[in-house]
Amino acid sequence: MKLHNTNNRFGLIAILLHWIMATVIIGLFILGKYMIDLDYYDSYYHIAPWWHKSFGLTLLFLLIIRLLWKLYSPKVLPISNHTGLEVKLATSLQIILYIFIFICCISGYLISTAEDAGISFFDWFDIPALISLGEAQSELAGDIHEYSTTILIVLAGLHLMAALKHHFINKDQTLIRILNFK
Ligand code: HEM
Repeated sequence: MKLHNTNNRFGLIAILLHWIMATVIIGLFILGKYMIDLDYYDSYYHIAPWWHKSFGLTLLFLLIIRLLWKLYSPKVLPISNHTGLEVKLATSLQIILYIFIFICCISGYLISTAEDAGISFFDWFDIPALISLGEAQSELAGDIHEYSTTILIVLAGLHLMAALKHHFINKDQTLIRILNFK
C-alpha cells in the first residue's frame, strides 16, 4: 500500500486522515449536543467537555497535517467521467469543509479560553489561552460554534450524498478511491 497519492489514487495517509477526521467530527457533534444538556450533578458533566475539547484540538492538528500533506503529496486528478461543474462543486465543497472545520475548532477554543484559562489536552499538557476578551468572547464564540458545527454537519452530509450518487448512480470509482486500501 503506497503512503503517497498518485494522480489517480489516494495513498494510505490521505485515506486514513479522511476517515479519522470524518469519525472525529461526527463524534464531536454528537458529544457536543449531548454535553450541553448535562447538569452539574451528572457524572459526565466534567468528563464529556474534557473529551470534547481534547478531541476537538486533535482535529485541529489533523487538519493542519492534512493540508500540509495535500501540499506535499501528488494531487489526485478528478475521474474522467466527472463533468466540469461536478469537479468545480466537489472542489469548492472540499475547501468550504476545511474552512468550517477550522471555524468550529477555533470557535470551540475561544469558548474554552474566554476566562483566560488554558485547555487541558488529554491531561498531557495545557494549551494556553492566547486571546482573552472575557464574556463577549464566550458568547460570540458560543454562537459561532453552535451555527458552524451545524453547517459543517450539513455540508458533510452533502459531501456524503455526492459520493453515494457517484457510487450507485454513475457507478464510478469516486467512493472506492477513498475507501480502498488495496
Ligand atoms: C469540528 C469540530 C467540532 C465540532 C463538530 C463540535 C461540536 C459541538 C457541538 C454540536 C456543540 C453544542 C453546541 C450547541 O448546540 O450549543 C459543542 C459545544 C461545545 N464545544 Fe465543540 N465542537 C468541535 C470542536 C471544539 C473544540 C476544538 C473545542 C475546544 C477546544 C470545543 C469546545 C466546545 C465547548 C466548550 C462547548 C460548549 C458550549 C456551551 O456550553 O454552549 N469544540 N461543540
